[in-house]
Amino acid sequence: MGCEAEEEAVKRVELPEPNAVWRKLRRAQTARTKESTDELHGTLPHSEAARRFWSRRTWSELAAVPAVSQVVLALVREGAGLGSIGAYTTIAQDEVRHADLSLALANALGGYDEEIPDGLEYSPRSLAAPSDVPVAVWALANGCFSETVSLALIQARHAATKQPTVRAVLSETLKDEALHVRVAWQVAGEVLPKLTPRERKELSAYSNELAEMIRRTFGTSGLSPKLRASENRLRDETAKAGLGARSASEENVIVNDALDEISERLRVHGLR
Ligand SMILES: [Fe+2]
Ligand SMILES: [Fe+2]
Repeated sequence: MGCEAEEEAVKRVELPEPNAVWRKLRRAQTARTKESTDELHGTLPHSEAARRFWSRRTWSELAAVPAVSQVVLALVREGAGLGSIGAYTTIAQDEVRHADLSLALANALGGYDEEIPDGLEYSPRSLAAPSDVPVAVWALANGCFSETVSLALIQARHAATKQPTVRAVLSETLKDEALHVRVAWQVAGEVLPKLTPRERKELSAYSNELAEMIRRTFGTSGLSPKLRASENRLRDETAKAGLGARSASEENVIVNDALDEISERLRVHGLR
């Protein structure tokens, strides 16, 4: 089969129809929204580190909104069914709620920072730029990488956080992210094995770039030394105050372990 014919075959790939997962997402969402916003009415101590940490969490969740929306657009472009489209629009809505909860926490802890400092790569606006990138690429970047690493970090933060309001936000987010990860790998399992060898090679190279990007955004290990020191301090102090972070060194280990797990799972789908 020539290149063009191969590409045509990939475009026609039937995407999965995760209807059951979509229905579950919708039921869970209605029940939990009220519960979580009620929880936020507790009083929180003011903490410079924690308000800045939760501002970063807000930027990260906000960046997920356009990233997931790009998956929705790519699914429509590639002729996916309503089950897949619905699963991803519901995920986008969850990410809006996560951003909103993180913003409320940042405000309660002393004030949300609107300005993303130079050198930090949270980029909600640039992720919203029009794109003709295929669903396989967006699903890999957003689903396999971001969602999986995000879930691992939130699980670890939740396990170590006792403060009730912060714990409620982490618990709310955790339940959603676990479902997002399931949807993401389900889509990956359908899409990735059907790629052409050339596409697979390109996607493998891209996944190495993604891993580095994740180390600089979810973790701090890829940042410049000065920025890394200040971002580490912020996590360490938030962890010490019990307000939702783990120490920087613990978080970097969690990120690396999650990246190892992702590359193992991708290998199963033919990406190395
Ligand atoms: Fe999220
Ligand atoms: Fe998510």
